[in-house]
Amino acid sequence: MNSPVMKGLTLNTPNHVKNAKLVAWVADMVALCKPDSVYWCDGSDDEYQRLCQLLVDGGTFKKLNPAKRPNSFLACSDTSDVARVEDRTYICCANKEDAGPTNNWMAPADMRATLNPLFDGCMKGRAMYVVPFSMGPLGSPIAHIGIELSDSPYVAVNMKIMTRMGKAVFDVLGVNGDFVPCVHTVGAPLADGQKDVAWPCNKTKYIVHYPETREIWSYGSGYGGNALLGKKCFALRIASNMGRDQGWLAEHMLILGVTNPEGKKYHVAAAFPSACGKTNFSMLVPPTGFDGWKVTTIGDDIAWIKPGADGKLYAINPEAGYFGVAPGTNYHTNPNCMASLDKNVIFTNVALTDDGDVWWEGMEKDTGSLPEHLIDWQGNDWTPEIAKTTGAKAAHPNSRFTVTAINNPALDSAWDDPKGVAIDAFIFGGRRSTTVPLVTEARNWVEGVYMAATMGSETTAAAAGQQGVVRRDPFAMLPFAGYNMADYFQHWLTMGQKLAASGAKQPKIYCTNWFRKGDDGKFVWPGYGENMRVLKWMIDRIEGSAAGQENIFGVSPTYGELNWAGLNFSAAEFNTVTSIDKAAWTDELKLHDELFTQLAYHLPTALKDTKEALEKRLST
Ligand code: OXD
Ligand code: MN
Repeated sequence: MNSPVMKGLTLNTPNHVKNAKLVAWVADMVALCKPDSVYWCDGSDDEYQRLCQLLVDGGTFKKLNPAKRPNSFLACSDTSDVARVEDRTYICCANKEDAGPTNNWMAPADMRATLNPLFDGCMKGRAMYVVPFSMGPLGSPIAHIGIELSDSPYVAVNMKIMTRMGKAVFDVLGVNGDFVPCVHTVGAPLADGQKDVAWPCNKTKYIVHYPETREIWSYGSGYGGNALLGKKCFALRIASNMGRDQGWLAEHMLILGVTNPEGKKYHVAAAFPSACGKTNFSMLVPPTGFDGWKVTTIGDDIAWIKPGADGKLYAINPEAGYFGVAPGTNYHTNPNCMASLDKNVIFTNVALTDDGDVWWEGMEKDTGSLPEHLIDWQGNDWTPEIAKTTGAKAAHPNSRFTVTAINNPALDSAWDDPKGVAIDAFIFGGRRSTTVPLVTEARNWVEGVYMAATMGSETTAAAAGQQGVVRRDPFAMLPFAGYNMADYFQHWLTMGQKLAASGAKQPKIYCTNWFRKGDDGKFVWPGYGENMRVLKWMIDRIEGSAAGQENIFGVSPTYGELNWAGLNFSAAEFNTVTSIDKAAWTDELKLHDELFTQLAYHLPTALKDTKEALEKRLST
């Protein structure tokens, strides 16, 4: 079927595309965006190679030395397009209250009136790629389908790695199947004969979600979560709306499996803010003293969790690859990740070595020295001397790798299981230099929701803006909850009530902080693989073999309850990372107050009551 849309342009709809809503929508978008051509992705390896070559020819990709990094590429973005743009991200639902005070909002009609002229002709001189993708195993009852239209071949090849992308999606979609329409443009139309630049983008950016009609419109950026619309836009902002309406959870969580020496396996979903070590935790290598223990990765960033027929919560990773932060990744912090990056990788904004390989800050820990010379992510010469005098980073702090999950040596055998895995525990972990102890178990679901809701964290380079500032980041979802945060808290409370009513064992809820610093300003807890010690304590709690000790917030481990084999960590150091400073907590609770005042509309009473009880315990 070839439908003429405008003079000289056909939709080129492949014969296997039978979905009428899809064909009509693509026709509408072609008429609006006015690309030069339309290309329907089939998701084949051959197509991937062709598009990568196109990106090499256009100067967006540099092919890395095949002897060092087979089939891998480096892209360096425009210096103005390096992170998610939270201040340009909108939730456009009919009522402002439904977006809530933590989201930017505009009325849908006003936003459409703003975007329409921007999208009109936005793809002139470019091809429109039709990218069919499934978030989650194809056909899984937990999975959902999206179609992204993009004028960026960089997006198409990244989506091939990050999602189940290709022809088979159209079969699942069938004639009447539903999908989330996602339109993306770099916002850089080309006039006749105009030469393209290596990283087209636009100073004006809009990352827009219409929750009621489940649509995503993204304008002006080619980077990460702004452009790969399956990730934050669909899998979190739109999916959180679907989850609220349909009774499930879309969360900013890694999912891991942990197997004890007797072969018993547990599944944990853990929420940490962006660039706070989710990928590392999901690929953790148990340290000395944990012979026979195994940690396996189901997902490193996002979890979709639905109640099963038995009432338990089952989780899938909706993604099929990792878009992880490169700096800091090395064989000490994450050996499994380093092994994943050996081949078939797209790197963005890391540095280029003189022998055609990649480098980022942190790799010197593996080699023992800094490279003598690099080309930094902005294309400038970099030497250790230059770095010392100017502070220039070779790799951008938010530089990334895009790699398929199947490269991961620690990949869980159930990672692609359409049923998902039953969750035994949730972890919520902020990044705090002070105040918040290493680990606390909530005494019940409501207390756990309170802990997650009031989580604070120091900001990182994953989003544009100032770094290191403490902000409330409820559930690590501040930039990703697609509706009113107070309603989102209520949804979690309701899910807990449903679990209790089903008779299924509720997952335990933990709050962790790996990032407490000592008086010398250095991290006290060694982190990374050593986090296994905390994970094992959680499992002991699930099994009822660790009594823990109760404090004002919940239950925490005694020094003697953690397995210290192979690590020198004194009781005094343990005290530094676990102690509760009443004065600091009195101040902290004032910040909870501020959050609750901001979220007063629809704030669940159960959370206000929990806070009052906490204050009472703190003052006695
Ligand atoms: C990410 C993020 O890219 O959270 O995963 O920013
Ligand atoms: Mn993330």
